[in-house]
Amino acid sequence: MRCTFLVLALALAATPSFAEAPATTTAAKQAFDSGGSVLTRAALAQALPVVARHAMVVSAQHYATEAGLDILKQGGNAIDAAVAVGYALAVVDPCCGNLGGGGFMTVHLKDGRDLFLDFREKAPRKASATMFQDAQGRVIAGLSTDSWLAIAVPGTVMGLDDALARYGTMSRAQVMAPAIKLARDGFVLARQDVERLMTSTDQFARAPNTAAIFLNHGAPWKAGEVLKQPELAKTLEAIAKDGDAVFYRGSIAQRIVEASQKNGGILSPQDFTDYTVTWQQPITCDYRGYSVVSAPPPSSGGVTLCEILEVLKPYPLGQWGYASVKTTHYLVEAERRAFADRNSDLGDPAFIDNPVAMLLSPDHAAALRASIQPDKATPSAEIAGPALNREGLHTTHYSVVDADGNAVSTTYTVNRYFGMGAIAGDTGFFLNDEMDDFTAKPGVPNMFGLVQGAANAIAPGKRPLSSMTPTILLKDGQVFLVTGSPGGSSIISTVAQSILNTVDFGMNAQQAVDAPRLHHQWQPDVVYVEPGYLTDETKAPLEAMGYTFRDRGSIGADEAIVVKPGRIEGANDSRRPAGLAAGY
Ligand code: DON
Repeated sequence: MRCTFLVLALALAATPSFAEAPATTTAAKQAFDSGGSVLTRAALAQALPVVARHAMVVSAQHYATEAGLDILKQGGNAIDAAVAVGYALAVVDPCCGNLGGGGFMTVHLKDGRDLFLDFREKAPRKASATMFQDAQGRVIAGLSTDSWLAIAVPGTVMGLDDALARYGTMSRAQVMAPAIKLARDGFVLARQDVERLMTSTDQFARAPNTAAIFLNHGAPWKAGEVLKQPELAKTLEAIAKDGDAVFYRGSIAQRIVEASQKNGGILSPQDFTDYTVTWQQPITCDYRGYSVVSAPPPSSGGVTLCEILEVLKPYPLGQWGYASVKTTHYLVEAERRAFADRNSDLGDPAFIDNPVAMLLSPDHAAALRASIQPDKATPSAEIAGPALNREGLHTTHYSVVDADGNAVSTTYTVNRYFGMGAIAGDTGFFLNDEMDDFTAKPGVPNMFGLVQGAANAIAPGKRPLSSMTPTILLKDGQVFLVTGSPGGSSIISTVAQSILNTVDFGMNAQQAVDAPRLHHQWQPDVVYVEPGYLTDETKAPLEAMGYTFRDRGSIGADEAIVVKPGRIEGANDSRRPAGLAAGY
């Protein structure tokens, strides 16, 4: 307790603007889909991170965090640990962790290099721009989410394998051992694990191969019971032995293609043999002396994040304070403009030219800033661009820092919870519905309400535009913050606020991830807020400026690490109570 007060006093001393924020009048806690809650201001003031001296792993599932920590303690580096966490999450967090999806990995190496691995899924060769439309050009509901046409060629296994081969130090068998054990011997389900599974009980019941694993003799699993996944264990063992060859050119590809063909899908063996991952230059920008390293296209994340930060740069947010009227006003206006840009032009760089340099230029930021009125919300209708969205929580992020100063920030996804909900034969893992991230038809919203343009049209071999934003901040070349989140388009807002909370408001890692957030994405012209973000003192003046607020139970789930002199702070987001930060 003494220690708590000492750290709290230090934290508050370092965060005057945050400490001065008025107490919230919103209800203490609000439950949300995975059993977590957003903290009140009072609880937030006392939130403390996990502290370690050498290394840290944070993920949304505690067994996966422990798997990564074990690897670090065995002498593995951050890449070894990140690959171990990636495979472990595929077992213990099957809604989101995956073998059947794809993602992005942002890496800082101790020698100073910043890297970005794109293992986003690709559209199959038989995909076409109009594949989700009927003969009259109408989008057919459910085809891009619930049918076998929803599946894009998965990238996770090649991504993890390639990262390990290039930058890891351990063998595949070593880093996959924890995942194989968790699948084979099972793991004890926590309440939050069960709640996630229960979102999809009806879906599991529809196919014998999903029911056999994810239901217990036809009934939902209960907290405290042990979930074993022997088929997934066999799949993982095969990958541990033969690497991505078995997934893309061997029996796993074969079984996915067979199931696809049987169920009206278009996946072919060549889609798997053609699949590639790519290493690219990350997006970088400067924010208040920190170097932001983030995700380039086919993610919209890094570009939109840096655009928001570039617009905010001249404003003294630290003085204005967390969630104050002025901070909220300028953050929302920056997001409004950056999201309008995001949705107009961005897409897979293998297919289109992304105007990244223009979007991130100081001139562009200055022009955007000049259009912000100091005391009034700008109606989104006055800002050009195609319309945007709302998205749910079906992705997962994890962060790793090792004792040498290597850092890995990974976000990967099957899109919705449990992807398109099907498993191919006895492979034991869910396949994605990432095709829904494409534009099914310009102007027609996707599953999440995203209305996108031609830059993100479907084409064979193309990767759908993403919002995933795995990010690392460096200070004088050393890792300061590793951050990222699920949450569709709200990922970008979550990562932006992770940065503002640590850099501008001086919050510790736990406060930074737990602090109530807002999200604005240009269209719809509303500001989503979590319980506790607004107070009586801020809500009325902001509404008078023209803002419309809409409550959202939770926005994102930030699994973050902050590196300070002599200490590493890890913070699992309270919105993901099954998660864990752990270090040594
Ligand atoms: O790549 C994307 O932007 C989406 N497929 C991510 C989906 C997501 O984050 C859903 N919720 N967490």
